[in-house]
Amino acid sequence: MPRESTGDAPDRIDTQLQHIGQAPLDPVTGAGPVALPSMRTSTVRFASMDMLDRAQAAKQRGERVPTYGRVGLQTHEALETLLCRLEGGQRAFLAPSGMAAISMALMACLSQGEHALVVDCVYGPVRYLHKTILSRMGIAADFVAPSLEKLQAALRPETRILYLESPGSLLLEMLDLPALARWAHQHKLTVIADNTWGSGYIYQPLTLGADISVIAATKYIGGHSDLMLGAAVATDPALIARLHETHYALGSTVSADDAWLALRGARTLGLRMRGCAENAQTVCQWLAQQPQVSRIFFPAWPEDPGHALWQRDAKGSNGLLAVAVDFTTPQTRRLIDHLRLFSIGYSWGGYESLVTQVEPSALASHHYWGANATPRMQAGTVLRLHIGLEDPVDLIADLDEAFKAAAQP
Ligand SMILES: Cc1ncc(COP(=O)(O)O)c(C=O)c1O
Repeated sequence: MPRESTGDAPDRIDTQLQHIGQAPLDPVTGAGPVALPSMRTSTVRFASMDMLDRAQAAKQRGERVPTYGRVGLQTHEALETLLCRLEGGQRAFLAPSGMAAISMALMACLSQGEHALVVDCVYGPVRYLHKTILSRMGIAADFVAPSLEKLQAALRPETRILYLESPGSLLLEMLDLPALARWAHQHKLTVIADNTWGSGYIYQPLTLGADISVIAATKYIGGHSDLMLGAAVATDPALIARLHETHYALGSTVSADDAWLALRGARTLGLRMRGCAENAQTVCQWLAQQPQVSRIFFPAWPEDPGHALWQRDAKGSNGLLAVAVDFTTPQTRRLIDHLRLFSIGYSWGGYESLVTQVEPSALASHHYWGANATPRMQAGTVLRLHIGLEDPVDLIADLDEAFKAAAQP
């Protein structure tokens, strides 16, 4: 009996991540590569008019049938299958960036005259999307604290969605997603969750009650800081149909080479996330001993206020954290400039360590900061660190030098 190259792997995620989307074996020679090639195309050709008609009919039924390159061929399909497995969804729609996936999901679910409830800890550019585009299309939005009381107060008859992100951007605030989703569903709202932090591996919004999960695969799935890609994943057939038409109509297409890079990145997603998380814990242990550190924002850290929710809902952690430090802005800038192993940059989720200062204006619009920041924290600054796969001994030595440089008068 010839061995099949894909299909029957046990369902554990680390095994699936190695087996989904393997290249098929040639039926004549029985040979084939492990990795699926990047299947680039604009034109899809058919053996006969009958076959074309069949494909068109299946497409009309909403099935994933490529009739044109915009939908993508096998490389795209393999990545979509892998993302569905990660997120626990039925269909995944690819987009050229995480932000494009967010826009696609919001446009799929909102029409003129409708209203969105958005939690105030979401990725900042979601506010920009509303300010620049959605509001012009007659869609209203309120950015509110993720408490049932605040959401209830902002609910309108025309509210259609609850958009959230857990843990939230910047301060990594864990949300009680199951409770928020239950409340939203009582009010017939569709729940869209940004799951870039969890990337399906350590957190699964769809299994916790969300209806659509959006991911910037730019971060941990790509994992090598060389790729922009996003996806929206759903289970409900009506939402899948909405996403399908929006994806097609907006022309949200992804290069096969980028889908291929994302597939390659996903093979080591577990290893990289675990490695970054372990290093981040070690760095947190050092940070906690520094007199200038007034607070660590990292759900896996036992003193983080979201730790219990993290223990309940997440399956692991990653390398992203924020730290409130008793340094003035000039001292913080000196600290950052002094770091040698941490590149200065906005992104995260790659193999390398990164640092930025969180903008005070971004914190101001965040209820979590308002509720938690002591006067000591308010007098200081907040650093964002992505802890990568370098040796943590070296990262700590680098941070130690930079803290000393910042502390100098
Ligand atoms: C939480 C979160 N969501 C979405 C995005 C957007 O992803 P992209 O940069 O691929 O558009 C980012 C990017 O930083 C992010 O941090």
